[in-house]
Amino acid sequence: MFAKQGRQWRSMCKGLVLGTVLTSFTLLLYCLSSPQEQLDLPEVPVAYSCAHRPARTHFKPVSENSHHSTGQPGLCSPKVDVMFMKTHKTASSTLLNILFRFGEKHQLKFAFPDGRNDFFYPSPFLRSQVKDYRPGMCFNIICNHMRFNAPEVAKVLPADTSYITILRDPAELFESSFHYFGRLAPMTWKIPGEDKMAEFLRDPNYYFDPNGFNSFYLKNLLFFDFGQDNTLELGNPQVEEGIRAIADRFQLVMMVEHFDESIILLKDALCWEMDDLLFFKLNARKDSTVSKLTPELRAKALEWNAVDWRLYQHFNDTFWRKVQAYGSQRMADDVAELRRRNAEMAAICIEGGHAVDAVNIQDTDMQPWQPIGEKSIMGYNLKQNIDQANRKLCRKMLTPELQYLTELGVNLWVTKLWGQVRSLINW
Ligand SMILES: *[C@@H]1O[C@H](CO)[C@@H](O)[C@H](O)[C@H]1NC(C)=O
Repeated sequence: MFAKQGRQWRSMCKGLVLGTVLTSFTLLLYCLSSPQEQLDLPEVPVAYSCAHRPARTHFKPVSENSHHSTGQPGLCSPKVDVMFMKTHKTASSTLLNILFRFGEKHQLKFAFPDGRNDFFYPSPFLRSQVKDYRPGMCFNIICNHMRFNAPEVAKVLPADTSYITILRDPAELFESSFHYFGRLAPMTWKIPGEDKMAEFLRDPNYYFDPNGFNSFYLKNLLFFDFGQDNTLELGNPQVEEGIRAIADRFQLVMMVEHFDESIILLKDALCWEMDDLLFFKLNARKDSTVSKLTPELRAKALEWNAVDWRLYQHFNDTFWRKVQAYGSQRMADDVAELRRRNAEMAAICIEGGHAVDAVNIQDTDMQPWQPIGEKSIMGYNLKQNIDQANRKLCRKMLTPELQYLTELGVNLWVTKLWGQVRSLINW
């Protein structure tokens, strides 16, 4: 019994020490690498559109409510200017892969962060955080993690940019965020018991400190990502104002729970072809399809994240209205076609046809980034003998986010250093 207590005590101490070291380290990195003071950049208006544009226009069946008609019915040209607001834990790595491939194919200009894979999150986005930014510069695509800041984002993108984002059920998101980021918020360290999340939800106001380090990971994370105040109470007019601001800014708000339908709406909104939107689920957590929430915990999580729940319900309504406008049968047909094409690609590219545990991934280039303390993110093995025509495409479709960013020329020294420190202390 004493041995058991000793073990628990030791592991608790180890956790505390490591946590302290890592938190100090993160703080240090923030101080070293985030340009807190906005450089005094002169205001230079961004062109209506960046110079590059694929010339071809193609026919497609257009629903009455399509926003992108070029005047002639059934005619649209592919959108190349895209702002994708990457929210946390929302299958957005899969979307980034789609955007990276499209951008490469059309030689578009990405606004990337510098040194790491996000724009100094959780600081609000500033255009000075963009890699190699010079006043007057214009980009086609911005899609890395950021805390959304509409006026600054607008300054680096053409005026007709399509703003796209994705939401996830807030209870599931909370569970995922707690699992991934809980340890980065010191306020969770003192939570007793095995099931810290359940204990937290039993009395969230007792454990939650709005001023605590990294507290935003534990309450209304979606609303926070959009640059809003995540500690607002439902009923505060700022909640509705925030939702309206998001609704006015974003042409399409997708839903993780209806990913394939979302992809079809995205295809329609951007006037892209099906080939551009084929994908494999990247960065998926083991058993992620199974909810770990009991109905009681789910109810508590929704109550605790009431603002995110309100946000989600609002865009759930607009989502299904969009699906209806698109045509339910047409949607069902297109989703079936997308699934058929994705399965076809999986058979061509993936060894065994499905994702495997990280330990079973042979090629280190295909290893996904893992959350602290475990190896729960699955990945893929590329098939050995893929024909010439598909080899490159397969590799790109399976390349995890960080490796792809490196290939696109982003230097990730901060992210990599962080990874090395973690492997050094074996966490
Ligand atoms: C989303 O909207 C659909 C269609 O109106 C509805 O059936 C469903 O219950 C809604 N889901 C949520 C979580 O509000």
